[in-house]
Amino acid sequence: MATTRSPLLLLLLLFLLSCSLHIPSVSSWKKDEFRNCKQTPFCHRARSRSPRSCSLVAADVAIHDGDLTAKLVSKNGEPFENPLILKLSVYKGGILRVRVDEDPNLGPPKKRFEVPDVVLGEFESSKLWLSRVSDEGVSSVVYLSSDLEAVVRHDPFEVYVRRKGGERVLSMNSNGLFDFEQLRMKKEGEDWSESFRSHTDSRPYGPQSISFDVSFYGADFVYGIPEHATALALSPTRGPGVEFSEPYRLFNLDVFEYLHDSPFGIYGSIPLMLSHGKGSGTNGFFWLNAAEMQIDVLGKGWDAEDGIALPSSQERIDTHWMSEAGIVDAFFFLGPEPKDVVQQYTSVTGRPSMPQHFATAYHQCRWNYRDEEDVGNVDSKFDEFDIPYDVLWLDIEHTNGKRYFTWDSALFPHPEEMQKKLADKGRHMVTIVDPHIKRDDDYYIHKEATNNGYYVKDSSGKDYDGWCWPGSSSYLDVLNPEIRSWWADKFSLQNYAGSTPSLYIWNDMNEPSVFNGPEVTMPRDALHHGGVEHRELHNAYGYYFHMATADGLLKRGNGNDRPFVLSRAFFPGSQRYGAIWTGDNTAEWEHLRVSVPMVLTLGLTGITFAGADVGGFFGNPDTELLVRWYQLGAYYPFFRAHAHHDTKRREPWLFGDRNTELMRDAIRTRYILLPYFYTLFREANTTGVPVMRPLWMEFPADEATFKNDEAFMVGNSILVQGIYTAGAKHASVYLPGGQSWYDMKTGVAYKGGVTHNLGVSDDSIPAFQKAGTIIPRKDRFRRSSTQMVNDPYTLVIALDGSLEAEGELYVDDGKSFEFGQGAYIHRRFSFTKGQLTSTNIAAPGSGKTFSSNCIIDRIILLGLSSGNKSALVEPGNIKLTIEPGPLNLHARSSSKALTIRRPNVRIADDWTIKIL
Ligand code: GLC
Repeated sequence: MATTRSPLLLLLLLFLLSCSLHIPSVSSWKKDEFRNCKQTPFCHRARSRSPRSCSLVAADVAIHDGDLTAKLVSKNGEPFENPLILKLSVYKGGILRVRVDEDPNLGPPKKRFEVPDVVLGEFESSKLWLSRVSDEGVSSVVYLSSDLEAVVRHDPFEVYVRRKGGERVLSMNSNGLFDFEQLRMKKEGEDWSESFRSHTDSRPYGPQSISFDVSFYGADFVYGIPEHATALALSPTRGPGVEFSEPYRLFNLDVFEYLHDSPFGIYGSIPLMLSHGKGSGTNGFFWLNAAEMQIDVLGKGWDAEDGIALPSSQERIDTHWMSEAGIVDAFFFLGPEPKDVVQQYTSVTGRPSMPQHFATAYHQCRWNYRDEEDVGNVDSKFDEFDIPYDVLWLDIEHTNGKRYFTWDSALFPHPEEMQKKLADKGRHMVTIVDPHIKRDDDYYIHKEATNNGYYVKDSSGKDYDGWCWPGSSSYLDVLNPEIRSWWADKFSLQNYAGSTPSLYIWNDMNEPSVFNGPEVTMPRDALHHGGVEHRELHNAYGYYFHMATADGLLKRGNGNDRPFVLSRAFFPGSQRYGAIWTGDNTAEWEHLRVSVPMVLTLGLTGITFAGADVGGFFGNPDTELLVRWYQLGAYYPFFRAHAHHDTKRREPWLFGDRNTELMRDAIRTRYILLPYFYTLFREANTTGVPVMRPLWMEFPADEATFKNDEAFMVGNSILVQGIYTAGAKHASVYLPGGQSWYDMKTGVAYKGGVTHNLGVSDDSIPAFQKAGTIIPRKDRFRRSSTQMVNDPYTLVIALDGSLEAEGELYVDDGKSFEFGQGAYIHRRFSFTKGQLTSTNIAAPGSGKTFSSNCIIDRIILLGLSSGNKSALVEPGNIKLTIEPGPLNLHARSSSKALTIRRPNVRIADDWTIKIL
């Protein structure tokens, strides 16, 4: 007996030990400050509904103004005595839009809020004018594309998209969870107020929530709906054995020390979910609504909770969407490829803006760089240690008492000179400008805002007064275009004293954060322009603030200097206004790890210019973590180090020679790859396809990639695998696809479709170039990206099995909007049949041109046999020798690369280089 028992005991002990190791570290996340679904009455009500409880019927189906319209009426007359109006529209590219609202003719007590300023006018005007609806008796059908049709089933009402063969793709209300609380007059004695902790929400308009289910057919996983610190593939939140019992919450909040794996809502919200499946491709569902939203991913068997599981003929993922207010304004994106969905979504909400070139380089931030001397020292240390950087940031302490647009005159007496010194080295500065305005009668912004009536009002109609960094503060009502325009003017060089053209802006706390407000934000019954309640618009507040600030920089530069504005809060469309970062993370390995799915999710939902605080904001990273963070952060689209003021200084030269060298190498890796990154930013700007991509976006048929969020692609050519543990000596790296991959450090080729167990050292994280691609680089080290403008390029050609490869280079002036009129160079490099060719792929210009004398002075070939000895450059008939290696400046001697030195062909020209 003893012998059989002890292994069991041992196993039990091991199990208990492993459990204890997984207990999350003690954190100061104040869970009680935030509501859960049970404490949120609309969420609780919606979650308590049973499947098939919706008894709405679509009646009077007709074509009206090019849309299919119907009335949604209740079979038994209650509670929908006033029919809802359903409107279904089809847009170019087969995008389906479904709107449901109350009938304005029946005079609901208030017009429900429809989010303006998000959907592009260009998209609106791409509406296809429906003229025909086929009546199938039980349903009405409209044409979407050669393969797809949209169906409105009448009883009970359901909207779905199906393939011509009958297979379903996406649907709404298939589980009968649709509910729409209509606005009504208060009954005698009814109390609509709601309380949470010490706060009472007067809720003058009563219940007005909306909820419904959405099903993704053939999907293996769903993704999207940022912002949560959690895995890329979303886990079920309801049903047997679920991981999270809370829905994914979308409510912009300033959450102190957020956890690294939680469905709780943090700073931004994008109600776009994508689905992906091996057989079904990729689809997307987007609900344009700015009120608090909660979304359940329904696990298998969720509907059996109350014993009435629904029969399902097709595999699918069901989801449940709940919002406190607003209307239904939903978009179905039908892929079928992952990139198609991002393109479709950004055709509605806008493509990411094209950043200035400097903004794609490395940013150095800390709360706070104390004074001008500190700024000067940090700046010169970067030079002393040969580390490039482009932007130095000033946090709130640079101001006079947190009055934005002012300077602390003791600490920063010469702000213009300070910026000029940086600008002389090609560097830029960023200052912080938050939306809370100090209530100080001597502060000009406050005076003007008060006199003009520009603040958000509390429920009694007085200027809302909340607590933030400056103490008692009020908040600009940025929903109002007049106020946005006034705010934008504050950024002119005349109005913003001490600013210079090389100064750009950081918007923080724009959820908005209110330290003494309910859930650290503004009360829901606060009032905005046009009588809009804060509850209706909350998630878009930060978006409007970001928009107004970006417009300010645009005005400052007379429309010809691309704004750079970093924002913490975001909403659909934020990609048009600037970069986003993932807020106040912590210096822990788990936070490094979760930064990857967080940034990937932002990219999937339109916001490609995103990154996390390198090093972790709270706490002191140990040196190894800091180095690993630099090595990973160098591949974030937005690459900035930042730290809380209570942390120890952590500039890259403070940890001994070896660690300085490692961080320098990481930052240099980014600088070398800047031409590639900038080319990818342009791709995002024209198509919406993000710079940093989940593996499944590039390998949609490879199931092994669907859940992988440890590794990611930068563009279509580079795969990066983070190292997320201390002391790692090995990493297992899955390399997808049928082609091979070249280690970017050694040039060694690895097979695709295989998980490799690779040795790792401290000097870099695994990164691979995909066979069949060409990457443009700039290898000379400079102090900042602006000093690299005229430097020559290197092309790294990684040949595939057929000895072919292809890549692109996009270049413009890095600053103005003239690229919009054709002032850019866009080339395709292709290597085939032993010959490299450069061709122009720029769209025909409209008036402006851009020229560059930059040359390519090095071509590196991977995968070519060393028997090849020479190359011929045309035009010119110049013969060059092909020599072995190196692949990069730190290449090991084992480098497998071949090099053609000094071909000296111009990037602007057509040419060929033939391998002889
Ligand atoms: C917020 C920001 C952080 C900043 C701090 C002070 O916590 O997220 O980045 O340093 O405010 O402005």
